[in-house]
Amino acid sequence: MLSISLEEFLIWKKKQLSKGGDQQSFALLLDYIGGISASDLNLISINLEGKLHLKKKLEFLESLWDDHLLKSCPMQYLCGITYWRDLKLKVTNKVLIPRPETELIVDIVFKKFPNKSEKLFFAELGTGSGAISIALALAYPFSDGVATDIDQDVLEIATKNFINSSKQSNLKFYCGNWWSPLESFKGKLDLAISNPPYIPKDTYEKLPKEVKNFEPKVALLGGEDGLKHIRKIIQKAPLFLKEKGWLILENHFDQGEKVKHLLLKNQFTSIEIVKDLSGIGRFTIGRYK
Ligand SMILES: C[S@@+](CC[C@H](N)C(=O)[O-])C[C@H]1O[C@@H](n2cnc3c(N)ncnc32)[C@H](O)[C@@H]1O
Repeated sequence: MLSISLEEFLIWKKKQLSKGGDQQSFALLLDYIGGISASDLNLISINLEGKLHLKKKLEFLESLWDDHLLKSCPMQYLCGITYWRDLKLKVTNKVLIPRPETELIVDIVFKKFPNKSEKLFFAELGTGSGAISIALALAYPFSDGVATDIDQDVLEIATKNFINSSKQSNLKFYCGNWWSPLESFKGKLDLAISNPPYIPKDTYEKLPKEVKNFEPKVALLGGEDGLKHIRKIIQKAPLFLKEKGWLILENHFDQGEKVKHLLLKNQFTSIEIVKDLSGIGRFTIGRYK
């Protein structure tokens, strides 16, 4: 541990933030690499004579901050960690950084399945870091969950995240193309969730470089119109869901009506487009018959 004065630290911090970047990324750097949490800072601010204890030298933290600013590399990848709901998740550039708006998927599930002691059987297609499935497996301890991804490396990260977040064993991971690894669960699911790649090709080309240059293309690109994967997921969902089972999908800001139409065409009922906190129709949900 290195010890520095609060005054020295505050001057350094001001200099770093004057170069650009956002407070949240800076806080992640300080917390995860520097070993100074927001609450440490608040406590020490009360006592201006105080000393701060750092895990790494300021020069090292500065070099990471400069890297982040110069190359637009997301701080979560530089630190190898992100926070999502109440989870602390390992991330590498193999997995999409789970987004705050996706946190609402879990709240939608809570509304549809209010009894946390329920013995739910759920599947998540395209689990990435495992964020959604892990949150559900923890919230519904009597549930059984299966989470898939096309990439085995991604599943290794999701598995580590589950082990680090819980002592439970109610979530299993399977590698393969959408529904194909789940053949043995046909007709058994109470709930299926997916935040699939849904960015249309033209939009993908224009994504900000911190996304396009660093996050996996396979996690983002949804074909020409963005709906390539959503179509596949919806078409086969009736084979896997129980009658009255729910399908919950995240989609691009303007895809809600099209996804609703696809659900209707595939015998789904009780269809709703659910808005995110910015008022965008971010999720489309329905019940199989
Ligand atoms: C938008 S990311 C979502 C990740 C995570 N569920 C989340 O919400 O942060 C989509 C995920 O789908 C996976 N994926 C892409 N194509 C797939 C396919 N054909 N079958 C299964 N998973 C796929 C990607 O590897 C990626 O992890």
